[in-house]
Amino acid sequence: FQASLKLHPAFTVGPVSRQVFGGFVEHLGRHIYGGIYEPGHPTAGPDGFRRDVVDLVRELGISHVRYPGGNFVSAYDWEDGIGPVDQRPRRLDPAWHSIETNEVGLHEFADWADLVGSELMLGTNLGTGGTRETLHLLEYANIPSGTTRSDARRENGREEPLDVRLWCLGNELDGDWQIGSKTAEEYGRLAAVTARAMRAIDQDLKLAACGSSWRGMPTFGVWERTVLEHAFDQIDYISCHAYYHEVDGDVASFLASGADMDAFIESVVHTIEHVRAVKRSDRRIDISFDEWNIWYQAGQTLELDSWPIAPRLLEDQYSVTDAVVLGGLLISLLKHADRVTAANLAQLVNVIAPIMTEPGGPAWRQTTFFPFATTSRLATGTALRGVLDAPEVSTAKFGDVPSVDAVATLDGDRAAVFVLNRSIDDTAQFTIDIASLGIDGTIRAQGIWDEDRHAKNTLDQPERVTLRENTKISRENGTITIELPPVSWTCITIG
Ligand code: AHR
Repeated sequence: FQASLKLHPAFTVGPVSRQVFGGFVEHLGRHIYGGIYEPGHPTAGPDGFRRDVVDLVRELGISHVRYPGGNFVSAYDWEDGIGPVDQRPRRLDPAWHSIETNEVGLHEFADWADLVGSELMLGTNLGTGGTRETLHLLEYANIPSGTTRSDARRENGREEPLDVRLWCLGNELDGDWQIGSKTAEEYGRLAAVTARAMRAIDQDLKLAACGSSWRGMPTFGVWERTVLEHAFDQIDYISCHAYYHEVDGDVASFLASGADMDAFIESVVHTIEHVRAVKRSDRRIDISFDEWNIWYQAGQTLELDSWPIAPRLLEDQYSVTDAVVLGGLLISLLKHADRVTAANLAQLVNVIAPIMTEPGGPAWRQTTFFPFATTSRLATGTALRGVLDAPEVSTAKFGDVPSVDAVATLDGDRAAVFVLNRSIDDTAQFTIDIASLGIDGTIRAQGIWDEDRHAKNTLDQPERVTLRENTKISRENGTITIELPPVSWTCITIG
């Protein structure tokens, strides 16, 4: 089938924020212990961090990393994770029904973030904790010296402040599974007073309040509105979380996940603007898409008759289709670059992750690694939406959606176009009109597709799926023509 995209520099959405390429590391399963941290592993440094994993995280291109949760943070006492390691307590983690040994805490994780070249985004405990614990953590992390807590940080090995700019005010507190869950009124007020007090300590913070845990929550919309009514003047972001997966072989709906993400983002933007209008405010609130990914949640139940250390939890193995959908979700985020200015792929290693590890053995890239790493590297400058013309496909879950989705970025004399072909059987003859962009230079197309859309990378076959070169591309004057295989994600670069 035929589809086309017309690009023009005037079709600007907004600057691409580097912070859209955040990651997320939670104390969950084998993410920390046996994932990023494995003393004794052949590649581990004296700090216990696996260097093979560090290299892959660097290659993935993560701007910042959200830590330490997730559900975990809502019962976590950050002070358990500081001071001499051999004196740290072992605690029950009720969120994931595990034992937390606290071998890795704030200092170790900050060292790891330095190793991978990422900024920290700290989550605070507003479940069992509150304003007090949050202020103590902020003082410990960001005040240079001269108070008991800031001096304790120096004695614990960090002379300079951690200088954490990005903060999440709790996690998914609308969900009844969350330890210390709250009503929107309770949480909105707590977020507002905590944010106000944090700014009394450090005025230069970016604060994200919890939006709904997902768009399907019964309180979705009302939760956002209520939280914003309380906290509008104190926060910078309201969060969104979304996980998608293929259900009962309904691949058409799965491939349309980005259309659902579009609608989710747009409805939260409308809610922000509604509250802004009622408040007659000039303040700008953006979306931090704090958690997004593919996650096959069915059948993943916790073992409740034991308390293991670092059990194998949420270790999804991703297929080619999953990678294509993930590329589509990135397209959705970039199409909303004006309002989604921070986001975190949830998560990074072993737990619903683009990177997998085996104890004592190798680390490898899942299929989803490739669209993320490519987009993180090449989506720079300004996001352009373009005029898209493509036939629609019907989906059971999301109605009719365009068979092709696309977004472009323009950065000086270079452009990149990210495209999804949602058709299950048909190749798209896709033309891109770049005449108005005024750029020239080499064109190249790389992407993810496969004759077997279920193919995965595993311990036995870690390189079964990788980025492929699409040679069915040509340019004549200002028009690029490319064949997009069915169920494919492609990145075309110009210049
Ligand atoms: O990312 C896994 C979990 O998903 C997080 O802990 C929680 O915030 C969300 O429900």
